[in-house]
Amino acid sequence: MSTITPKLSGKVALVTGASKGIGASIAKHLAAAGASVVVNYASSKSGADKVVAEITAAGGKAVAIRGDVAQPADIVRLISETKAAFGKLDILVNNAGVYEFAPLEAITPEHFHRQFNINVLGLLLTTREAVKLFPATGGSVINIGSVVSAVTPPASAVYTATKGAVDAITGVLSKELGPKGIRVNALNPGIVETEGAHAAGFIGSDFEKNAHTQTPLGRTGQPQDIARIAVFLASDDSGWLTGEKLRAGGGMH
Ligand SMILES: NC(=O)c1ccc[n+]([C@@H]2O[C@H](COP(=O)([O-])OP(=O)(O)OC[C@H]3O[C@@H](n4cnc5c(N)ncnc54)[C@H](OP(=O)(O)O)[C@@H]3O)[C@@H](O)[C@H]2O)c1
Repeated sequence: MSTITPKLSGKVALVTGASKGIGASIAKHLAAAGASVVVNYASSKSGADKVVAEITAAGGKAVAIRGDVAQPADIVRLISETKAAFGKLDILVNNAGVYEFAPLEAITPEHFHRQFNINVLGLLLTTREAVKLFPATGGSVINIGSVVSAVTPPASAVYTATKGAVDAITGVLSKELGPKGIRVNALNPGIVETEGAHAAGFIGSDFEKNAHTQTPLGRTGQPQDIARIAVFLASDDSGWLTGEKLRAGGGMH
């Protein structure tokens, strides 16, 4: 009988914002599929250490590396520490992100810059540095966007604008990096039950109830719903997909 090789065996992945929520689940699922994983975090060292401990206890490989993606110097250090840990990179998941809803009258430059610096500039600079470690055969970049870029909920102008930018950047970079064999896709969740979604007050709110009425599968997503799709986008199973924006929201459009 031939042996079964895990899908991502020999691959190295970096997941930004992997100390909790969707990023933590993606890190664990990529590791379970055989990848060595860099678990990036900004402030929650204990959360990142816990993710690493779970991966190593299951026989996988992972390290936690701090780095605030809104700080260009942190990104350079994150990528050089990734190189020191695993020597290369095949998969980048740009997951680190913040969401702050606000009606038009409450929008301030601080509200704008905080979200754009992390969700957009951080994603761009991380990708710029990370692809330097990709092998000549290419790799996969997965940008975590959101269904909000299509749904455009009220009181979300800045956050939704960041995710619209993520969709646009995904298209642009798929064209720029395609000749290098690097695929770039956006994975756009609907509402997902995470620490961040709880902290934002989404879980149990009218916003969540209203989302269910627009969701054919009729429930809130769980981090593993998204992580399983991330494994697909990271693996050769999606080798003919690039520049795509996959809505992962139980059918919410
Ligand atoms: N949950 C949802 O309903 C939902 C829906 C659609 C899209 N999304 C997107 O999915 C992604 C993850 O969301 P989530 O709900 O899992 O969030 P979460 O539970 O709040 O977790 C956010 C993660 O991002 C990290 N992070 C925040 N700012 C960072 C920075 N400047 N540099 C590096 N890491 C940073 C946090 O690290 P520390 O804890 O160390 O600070 C944490 O690991 C975001 O891009 C979000 O926009 C979420």
